[in-house]
Amino acid sequence: MVGENNQVRENVQENAERGNAQSHGANVGLVGDKITIRGGRPLVGRIEVKGAKNLVTKAMVAALLGETPSILRDVPNISDVRIVRGLLEAHGVKVTEGDEPGSLQLDPVDVESAHYADIDAHAGSSRIPILFCGPLLHRLGEAFIPDLGGCRIGDRPIDYHLEVLRKFGAVVEKQESGIRMSAPNGLKGTKVELPYPSVGATEQVLLTAVRAEGITELKNAAIEPEIMDLINILQKMGAIITVDTDRVIRIEGVDSLQGYQHRALFDRNEAASWAAAALATDGDIFVGGAKQAEMLTFLNVFRKVGGAFDIHDDGIRFYHPGGDLKPVIIETDVHPGFMTDWQQPLVIALTHAHGVSIVHETVYEQRFGFVDALVEMGATIQIHRECLGGHPCRFGQRNFNHSAVIAGPTKLVGADIEVPDLRGGFSHLIAALTAEGTSTVSNVGIISRGYENFITKLRLLGADFDLEG
Ligand code: EPU
Repeated sequence: MVGENNQVRENVQENAERGNAQSHGANVGLVGDKITIRGGRPLVGRIEVKGAKNLVTKAMVAALLGETPSILRDVPNISDVRIVRGLLEAHGVKVTEGDEPGSLQLDPVDVESAHYADIDAHAGSSRIPILFCGPLLHRLGEAFIPDLGGCRIGDRPIDYHLEVLRKFGAVVEKQESGIRMSAPNGLKGTKVELPYPSVGATEQVLLTAVRAEGITELKNAAIEPEIMDLINILQKMGAIITVDTDRVIRIEGVDSLQGYQHRALFDRNEAASWAAAALATDGDIFVGGAKQAEMLTFLNVFRKVGGAFDIHDDGIRFYHPGGDLKPVIIETDVHPGFMTDWQQPLVIALTHAHGVSIVHETVYEQRFGFVDALVEMGATIQIHRECLGGHPCRFGQRNFNHSAVIAGPTKLVGADIEVPDLRGGFSHLIAALTAEGTSTVSNVGIISRGYENFITKLRLLGADFDLEG
């Protein structure tokens, strides 16, 4: 597949993310946008994680494909879920509370085209709307997608998505305020080879191919556990999907799909974030709901750095067992590699490690925006354009600052810092929790996009802070 010359870029205004931060937080009960944290207390206790943000939001979109209602369980109360709910409701899907706390019933029987204003209200808020295309084209023959949002951690083009949709037969028209699509001849199965195993583009293929006429073959697919769980859901709905070796997925299109009932895969990114917080604060956190299989790679690195964990049936206990933390070389990668979302929270523990650590970020070209604040707090971190500590990656020849060298141990001191993005924001919270003195962390509403009740959880774990604003 050849990438578009004129890649459609996210139309994220310079401060869109910041402007949205407070409303993200307000949606989940966070009144202010700032936290003053007095560092130095270990986080100790038990918290629970629910379904993965990066599965739940896509599972909600999949419900559009059913002819009967779906029930999704373990849905976290995060603002990304609320955004997708709003978009589904704008398209006539009835979304109600399900049969237990944290479950949603999604009834797509009366799906209809949304009013422009209702869609536009969600412009710049999330990346999920691009995944509505296939299901809406199947249901309505047309789709309109607002400008996308999401964390500013790189350019994040959608060229693979648009190329995939065109291959299925969609007609794509870029407009000033979004993208309009139609499928005058219906959608037909096709052969796709992704230039990179993109999570979103793989989901795009799955959500479009399951109802397309004929067979679709996808090569170089992403195989993240969240994608496997989306495949589980689609199979429950009636889809026929084969996952072959070497990142090949084959989908036989079917005429109709039914609703599903599903308990979402746990959020391994949230679990890893709390694990990193336990290690950096010399703490001891039991993350209820976390499972070993989806975290194997993280657990190996956690142990190498000097962290300890105990696997239980109902969760994983992460703790600092005493002794010095050790430096590591990490290269982020697609699954089964070390996830890009794990590096930001773990970097704080690496500032405490005795020696030089390297983090080579190969998934997003700009995921070190959070580091400036850490340097201000006393960390010794240098960012390099070269591919350090591993294999050359696709960013190496392109002048992107994508390798970090972290020299430790350093002691962090309190500062006024501003959250740049979701995972970087959690990393800033950990930094403030470990720092000597008081820190004010602003723009914290962004963290509510992906961490359910993080304020309550911090309190439960004994953090010393005040909310402002
Ligand atoms: N890419 C393109 N063109 C495309 C699509 C992707 O060049 O059309 C590039 C991206 O720019 C990036 C790489 O491919 O360099 C990987 O992007 P991918 O499509 O895999 O990421 P995504 O689907 O946009 C999801 C998660 C991210 C997570 C990544 C990688 C969601 C909503 N987001 O993003 O999660 O980091 O996969 O696992 O599922 C987060 O939770 O904080 C987060 C950023």
